Amino acid sequence: MDAMNNSEAPKEALYTDIKSFFDSAPPLTHGPDISRKLNEFIGRNSVSSGKGNRVVCVTSGGTTVPLEQRCVRYIDNFSSGHRGAASTEYLVKAGYSVIFLYRRGTCQPYCRSLPDNPLLECFESINESNIQVCQSHSEAVRRAISEHHAAVAEGLLLKLPFTTIFEYLQILQLIAISLRSLGPSAMFYLAAAVSDFYVPWESMAEHKIQSGSGPLDMRLVQVPKMLSVLRKEWAPTAFCISFKLETDSKILLEKAGMALKKYGMHAVVANELLTRKEEVVVVTSSGMISVHRDNTQSGADVERPLIELLVERHSAYIEASTI
Ligand code: PMT
Repeated sequence: MDAMNNSEAPKEALYTDIKSFFDSAPPLTHGPDISRKLNEFIGRNSVSSGKGNRVVCVTSGGTTVPLEQRCVRYIDNFSSGHRGAASTEYLVKAGYSVIFLYRRGTCQPYCRSLPDNPLLECFESINESNIQVCQSHSEAVRRAISEHHAAVAEGLLLKLPFTTIFEYLQILQLIAISLRSLGPSAMFYLAAAVSDFYVPWESMAEHKIQSGSGPLDMRLVQVPKMLSVLRKEWAPTAFCISFKLETDSKILLEKAGMALKKYGMHAVVANELLTRKEEVVVVTSSGMISVHRDNTQSGADVERPLIELLVERHSAYIEASTI
């Protein structure tokens, strides 16, 4: 047996954890269908199709951790998917084709200005056979429908839903491997809130856990961080942006800096839970840039200047890669 040096040992352990995560995960129900959609989408945007668009994978919303195989209960998190949905709109505007990997039921691109229950709140019944858009929402509905329709019709938006941590990581791997062919033109914008702990499938109760058996004692295993394997193996030439969320501002920037180095990210977007809609800090190897929402403009959000900055950085990365 070869002797392992210190840096190889943790790497080996990580790869073993990743392998055992994927080996034991329940297979995706629509895996072949997802692969087909991805190949078509990426083919339509490749250089050989004459388009040569940049393609970005935006992840959005939170993953769930099921507690039972026939799931009745699960662990969830706070993420609304607003960041991913808003960023998708600005990326499409900037000329990117977007693979939107989103948690079912979370915020969708082009729907942010609609009320929570658009079907019931934006439409009114005139008589038994006629329904029309309420005057107060007509502008928002018209804009949402036409912008969404244009993005899909032009082949600029592919939406792929997930619910569990198992689905999320398996689909992310499929996307990353498919995007490898685009080299530096591909981008990852990993805004999803990914579970840190999970119950491995094989040790999970099959049926609903019974409450009559007293306090619940359950062991959660750490979800292996996929960022380094994404960077090094799945899509090694893509431009990768991850996010760092903390509730304690004192440790946020230090943790973001550590993630940048440890996972070889091109940028880490640091945000604090309470101020995440107002301000983020983009941490790169050349320094930190604070990005704010422009409060002088109505409807402005922090994602607009954030995407402008990241698109600029991606352009510089592509240029440097082609020299
Ligand atoms: O959806 P909103 O309500 O608009 O909120 C947006 C947001 C706060 C969720 C978003 O801006 C954000 O910060 N997303 C990342 C949250 C998160 O999971 O942070 P983290 O510090 O736990 O993870 C850091 C990075 O590691 C993330 O990019 C994540 O994709 C990745 N990760 C995390 C766990 C894990 N097991 N594997 C991973 O690869």
